[in-house]
Amino acid sequence: MKNAPIGIFDSGYGGLTVLREIVKLLPEYDYLYLGDNARAPYGPRDFDTIYQYTLESVRYLFGQGCQLVVLACNTASAKALRNIQQLALPQMAPERRVLGVIRPTAEVIGHFTKTNQVGVLGTTGTVRSESYLLEIGKFFPAVAVYQQACPMWVPLVENGELAGPGTEFFVKKYLDSLLAAAPGLDTVLLACTHYPLLEPLIQRFLPKGITVVSQGEIVAKSLTGYLQRHPDMASRCAKNGQRHFHTTGSAADFEGHASAFFGEAVAAVQVDLRS
Ligand code: DGL
Repeated sequence: MKNAPIGIFDSGYGGLTVLREIVKLLPEYDYLYLGDNARAPYGPRDFDTIYQYTLESVRYLFGQGCQLVVLACNTASAKALRNIQQLALPQMAPERRVLGVIRPTAEVIGHFTKTNQVGVLGTTGTVRSESYLLEIGKFFPAVAVYQQACPMWVPLVENGELAGPGTEFFVKKYLDSLLAAAPGLDTVLLACTHYPLLEPLIQRFLPKGITVVSQGEIVAKSLTGYLQRHPDMASRCAKNGQRHFHTTGSAADFEGHASAFFGEAVAAVQVDLRS
């Protein structure tokens, strides 16, 4: 397969924190990253809108040759993945696959906690979906999950506001609210791929002894396992070590912001999802 990169999708830049870890473990594969920056953030949007936007993005990535797409976005994974897998995929491309980030995270998060209390920080959409309550409950029924929506964090991160008094205020506000509800928690999951950019501040405002878990490494390990278990899919994905970055927003903005998330400079192309 000449042109079959693995598609990595996010509403904006956050999925780059996942891709960054994926390329460390699987550098040989080709990747096509799509950020729907023109329509980010997804977090406050309703179910139907998130489903439509995510479906359009997956269709675009399939059109670019992707056989396998990872929704590196919790909001899209929570609100759109199941319908894409069960309703859209069988008609659109039954032999292709779309994976999310919630299940691989839920499969391991219980191993981080000793008090059996986990805080989940996410967008309003992710929290309202209750996907983490459900999925963690399947794998770790003894773990109590405390959710906290952090609606200001994605806009702050998308705009590069990673420090300063305004950002500190909103980081502390949501953490204080979580800690008040769950004083015994020892593990906090950053259940939004944008949040690792705020991790230094999050660490600062959390009491010592609380483990902060980001998803990048977890998802990268899970994808590695998936490709090992599915050699047919692995052989259909191109392996030339190429990486391409598409955005529905401005390419210059994407290039300006991306390195903070990806760890290195990238060249981006602005695309129209309907083309
Ligand atoms: N990175 C996305 C997530 O993991 C952010 C969602 C948004 O656009 O609000 O949920």
